[in-house]
Amino acid sequence: MKKLKEAARSSGLLFLFVFLAWPALVTAMDNGECFDCHSDETLTRENNEHGHINNLLFVDEGRFNRSVHHISGLFCVDCHTDIEALDYDNEVPHARQLAPVQCGNCHSESEAAFAESAHMQIRSKGISMTCYACHDYHYVSYLAGASVAEREDNFCAKCHNPHRSHDWLPKKEEHFAFVECTVCHAPEVPRHIHLKFFDLMTNKYYQGDEILEILGISYEQFMPLLDTDKNGILSRQEFEALELMLRQKNVHAIFHVELVAEMDPAAHQVTAEGAERNCEKCHTPESPYFNAVTIALPNKDGSVDHHRVERAVLESYSLRHFYIYAGTRVKLLDLIGIVLLGGAACGVLGHLTIRVLTIRLRRNKDK
Ligand code: HEC
Ligand code: HEC
Ligand code: HEC
Ligand code: HEC
Ligand code: HEC
Ligand code: HEC
Ligand code: HEC
Repeated sequence: MKKLKEAARSSGLLFLFVFLAWPALVTAMDNGECFDCHSDETLTRENNEHGHINNLLFVDEGRFNRSVHHISGLFCVDCHTDIEALDYDNEVPHARQLAPVQCGNCHSESEAAFAESAHMQIRSKGISMTCYACHDYHYVSYLAGASVAEREDNFCAKCHNPHRSHDWLPKKEEHFAFVECTVCHAPEVPRHIHLKFFDLMTNKYYQGDEILEILGISYEQFMPLLDTDKNGILSRQEFEALELMLRQKNVHAIFHVELVAEMDPAAHQVTAEGAERNCEKCHTPESPYFNAVTIALPNKDGSVDHHRVERAVLESYSLRHFYIYAGTRVKLLDLIGIVLLGGAACGVLGHLTIRVLTIRLRRNKDK
């Protein structure tokens, strides 16, 4: 023990400190140093023989700072790991040719899931897809709060037009609007229904902090205020109390409902053969797809807090129904008839569909 203390006091400690801190100092190489040159919009690469995406070497600092990686505390050199120091004696202070960035160094599970996807199989056709074909690299944004439309625009719809296929699926428009592609195409991914506050007056989603400001509470107070029986999940009554509170504050918000994939590496295991096409998987009261229902409160930085609510809230009136297409009412009845006839017994008829229909009928009566 005494020896240890002595050792600690000895000059050896200084050596040890420098030794341990050295990698940390390198990692902490300030992004500002990189931006000294790379915030120049005219900086370009001299040659592009190595299959680079572009010659432009400009990195947009504002956008980079809003990315999930900057928010998570990553530095440029955490990805560009082969830059260990900048040598300003050279015109270019680092190697002109840097090694390709390996996203999988930090995201090994996503990489492994991706390796089993239809998108990896196309390698045999000579097409190779990078992680950033979907995600971008400097400007990777949080995804959990994005709507189905945003997710599709950012990802799948960049390359696929689903309207050209899926002819077996009725109401393609509705399905693509309310069911994220990966919900069907990545069979292993956990899904949940996600409810977001939507303002009918401005046609915009509310940010979490806007809703909280209206309620006059902080993020931490949201569940304690609403979850009166303290069981960690909002019941239908508790949910309706929230609706009432908002109405009293004169907020014309409804809940926009979507079926989305959770943030999970399994989202990458995209398949065509294994994709869901069984109507009964979703359109039944027992559907496992509707087990998890959450209110999504988006934070300013793009991340999202999810709060569990009981599945029964899906029967509530203030959910934005997917039946924005009022003209399809009669056609819809026919379709559901067909599903019923073609499908199994009456029990098959979707809980969802029944709910939608009865609400429609009830609303009709109210008119
Ligand atoms: C003094 C200016 C300067 C600084 C500082 C600088 N770079 Fe560069 N960087 C350049 C120039 C010039 C090139 C183009 C080299 C070429 O292809 O001729 C370049 C190229 C690059 C490339 C492309 C490499 C490739 O393989 O084509 C990356 C990535 C890069 N820099 C990252 C960084 C990072 C990260 C930092 C901070 C740690 C940084 N740079 C600091 C000037 C700079
Ligand atoms: C999340 C990882 C990641 C971070 C963080 C990151 N880069 Fe990159 N960077 C990449 C990838 C991926 C590429 C594209 C090709 C490759 O090198 O693999 C790239 C390419 C570049 C290029 C070449 C031009 C281009 O756009 O293709 C420059 C210059 C560059 N990065 C600079 C920076 C600077 C400066 C920072 C910090 C502000 C930074 N990078 C932070 C992943 C990252
Ligand atoms: C074909 C498009 C596509 C490609 C290519 C892709 N991703 Fe994803 N990635 C997604 C989708 C979709 C999600 C889930 C978000 C959602 O459902 O909207 C996701 C989610 C993620 C997440 C968050 C999930 C989690 O587990 O935290 C990470 C991290 C990620 N991807 C990394 C990668 C990496 C690394 C690669 C390359 C090996 C890659 N992605 C390639 C589409 C893609
Ligand atoms: C040095 C480690 C590192 C590297 C390399 C890296 N990431 Fe990340 N990535 C992170 C961290 C840390 C997070 C934040 C994790 C979290 O918040 O759960 C993250 C989050 C993500 C997310 C999740 C966004 C969400 O909604 O949660 C995606 C997508 C992603 N990275 C894609 C990429 C891609 C694409 C590359 C390669 C260009 C890459 N990452 C390279 C560390 C890294
Ligand atoms: C960067 C372009 C790109 C993006 C983004 C993209 N894909 Fe693909 N995808 C392709 C290509 C190319 C193929 C191979 C097409 C072929 O084999 O004819 C493919 C194949 C597929 C297949 C297999 C088709 C078959 O017939 O076997 C499915 C399913 C698929 N993609 C779904 C998706 C989904 C879901 C997303 C979003 C998460 C997505 N893709 C994002 C380019 C993309
Ligand atoms: C309700 C479930 C479901 C949804 C939602 C869905 N798909 Fe599919 N998709 C399937 C099934 C099942 C197949 C396989 C059909 C077949 O073999 O004919 C398929 C086939 C495909 C194919 C291959 C088509 C071809 O020509 O062979 C692509 C690409 C594709 N889907 C992309 C998408 C994209 C992009 C989205 C989101 C906009 C999406 N899908 C939404 C179930 C779905
Ligand atoms: C992955 C889950 C899923 C699958 C699989 C699925 N659906 Fe749907 N379907 C939905 C969701 C979610 C909606 C939108 C909810 C709504 O409109 O009430 C929807 C909407 C519909 C609608 C329109 C209802 C309306 O109110 O406008 C019909 C009709 C329909 N689906 C029939 C089918 C048929 C037939 C199949 C099988 C060929 C099928 N669905 C497969 C999830 C699914």
